Amino acid sequence: MKALVLAGGLGSRLRPFSHSMPKQLIPVANRPVLVHVMEDLRALGVTQVGLIVGDRGKEILAALGDGTGLGIELTYIRQHAPLGLAHCITIAQDFLGDDDFVMYLGDNMLTDGVADIARQFREDRPAAQVVVHKVPDPRAFGVAEIDENGRVVRLAEKPAEPRSDLAMTGVYFFTPAVHEAVAAIEPSARGELEITDALQWMVSHGAEVRARIYSGFWKDTGKVEDVLDCNRELLDRLAPSVLGDVDGASEVTGPVVLEEGARVIRSRITGPVIIGAGTVVEDSHIGPHTSIGRDCVLTAAEVEYSIMLDGATVRRVGGRLLRHAVPDRTVRGQDPGSSRRPGGRRDDGPPAERAGSQPVPP
Ligand code: G1P
Repeated sequence: MKALVLAGGLGSRLRPFSHSMPKQLIPVANRPVLVHVMEDLRALGVTQVGLIVGDRGKEILAALGDGTGLGIELTYIRQHAPLGLAHCITIAQDFLGDDDFVMYLGDNMLTDGVADIARQFREDRPAAQVVVHKVPDPRAFGVAEIDENGRVVRLAEKPAEPRSDLAMTGVYFFTPAVHEAVAAIEPSARGELEITDALQWMVSHGAEVRARIYSGFWKDTGKVEDVLDCNRELLDRLAPSVLGDVDGASEVTGPVVLEEGARVIRSRITGPVIIGAGTVVEDSHIGPHTSIGRDCVLTAAEVEYSIMLDGATVRRVGGRLLRHAVPDRTVRGQDPGSSRRPGGRRDDGPPAERAGSQPVPP
């Protein structure tokens, strides 16, 4: 089985963070969402991965390379305009050939893995198999209606009145039967070739489309709250490891990962927290549920339930607590001190707003 991973989306709902990087590269527990996706695929024994990229493909290539470091073989496929999920299958035909494949949206995280669901697909080989998750309000998703045997009888994309509570996650298993369906459908009202329409076409033409219920943790990381939720979930599973330096005046409690070369000075770290290599934390309180990237600087800062992107700086936020934030550059209080980051790039505030963060009073 091959994989087709879709990472061409713009991530407009994640702005301003997706100005800094494609949304699929936003770090969750200090690893890009796309790396979590690739690891999930590796766990299924899939090594040949076609990666659909759009205008920001260069950044994705810079982060993932040819996939060797992740134990996979990546083939980049350029999508020139966001014409829909089913359109991605049409442009990947050369790569896919006549093989079965799993299609995985590059902004989806199913943190409990889909190994059992993949095994069921390999055993039963229905024409297609969708992975669904029960949600209280599925109106923002594709929705599947199934019979008592788990066979899909009808699908709808973001219906105003859902006929079931089964949202389609961003993971789909296909046999080559899908190619005829994507060739047959027309663009939707939003001008895209919808995967839901291709699946509905298969159902209407008598093909067997199955749904498998995934009951673990799932998020489409389209919005900031969802990224922070994912981060919390992964940090709750953190295996502690303190390789960096902690001085005698600091206190570290709970599960904490401090990467080599990170330094903690006169600070309190309340796990679960992960702190990347080269980061310096001074006179601060970090945690819980916080990921700090590499080469960050935190001085007299208080940060919890947040993600700091690589190279970001938080300085003297004037007794204010940074909470539920994703600073990507600089958050600064009254201190007129240096505005240079370790990387040497000049900060060009206004700080909190520019960083897209939401500092709130304690
Ligand atoms: C897409 C699919 C939708 C699915 C969702 C999962 O929606 O069209 O059926 O439920 O991904 O993340 P989009 O996020 O492109 O609006």
